[in-house]
Amino acid sequence: MSKGKLQKFAEMETFKNVFQYPYSVVSEVPFEMRGHWREQYFHNDNPIVLELGCGKGEYTVGLARVYPNINFIGVDIKGARIYTGAKQALNEGLDNVAFLRTSIEIIDRFFSEDEVQEIWLTFSDPQMKNVNKRLTSTFFMNRYRRFLVDGGLVHLKTDSNFLFTYTTYMVNVNKLPVLYRTEDLYNNELGEKGVTDSQMDEKTREILGIHTYYENQWIERGLNIKYMKFQLPREGELVEPDVEIELDDYRSFKRTKRSSLSTSK
Ligand SMILES: C[S@@+](CC[C@H](N)C(=O)[O-])C[C@H]1O[C@@H](n2cnc3c(N)ncnc32)[C@H](O)[C@@H]1O
Repeated sequence: MSKGKLQKFAEMETFKNVFQYPYSVVSEVPFEMRGHWREQYFHNDNPIVLELGCGKGEYTVGLARVYPNINFIGVDIKGARIYTGAKQALNEGLDNVAFLRTSIEIIDRFFSEDEVQEIWLTFSDPQMKNVNKRLTSTFFMNRYRRFLVDGGLVHLKTDSNFLFTYTTYMVNVNKLPVLYRTEDLYNNELGEKGVTDSQMDEKTREILGIHTYYENQWIERGLNIKYMKFQLPREGELVEPDVEIELDDYRSFKRTKRSSLSTSK
């Protein structure tokens, strides 16, 4: 590990807004704040919103600035990324922000039934080969249902055509109510910058206009940014869509495509 990373990790141990529970730790120890984030950490009754795979936490911090009466928790396994958002929140005195370093596969160990109001998925890895690692798969939806309020909102903002198409099939086959969906959030025929839907209220436009670290790379490469917002009711068994989807022609930022396949489920 580089010196810079070691320093960040050491400094982060002192941050009151960061909770670190990598898989190895939490598998043996119950998380005592589960079901008690509001009274024990936030000291209020406000709703809780998660950003899963938050990276540097641009949405966690950005949303917290806009909504002081909502609590935001960014979740990611990578500590060096979380550091950036956590430090910023501390510097700005944002008491409605926390970060949780853990694996999203075990996210339901940290939140109890109805504890979370909304989930943001920002530029999640498309995980084109393994559906059970995809954060919008039914595998994860079933986990989210354990702590998200009935009919709670899931926001997906992504560059990935694969992930967006997959998620569209997933919500359609399960008849999950879609409240908003666009395949091109920023571009319009006038070439204006920013969110282009004039029907949207100012706050929503401001929020959707927050750019994350990864988002900026994709925008520079000329990719359209896609966004959808849907509800996740608790009732009914979820089924995986049975469709072949064209793979993205890039694998990840700065990496080339590895697979020789052109579609995947
Ligand atoms: C492509 S990056 C996007 C980061 C950030 N949201 C952005 O837009 O800049 C995906 C992030 O999700 C995290 N991630 C992916 N799968 C995860 C998992 N199963 N558990 C925890 N974090 C995960 C990665 O560590 C990474 O920081």
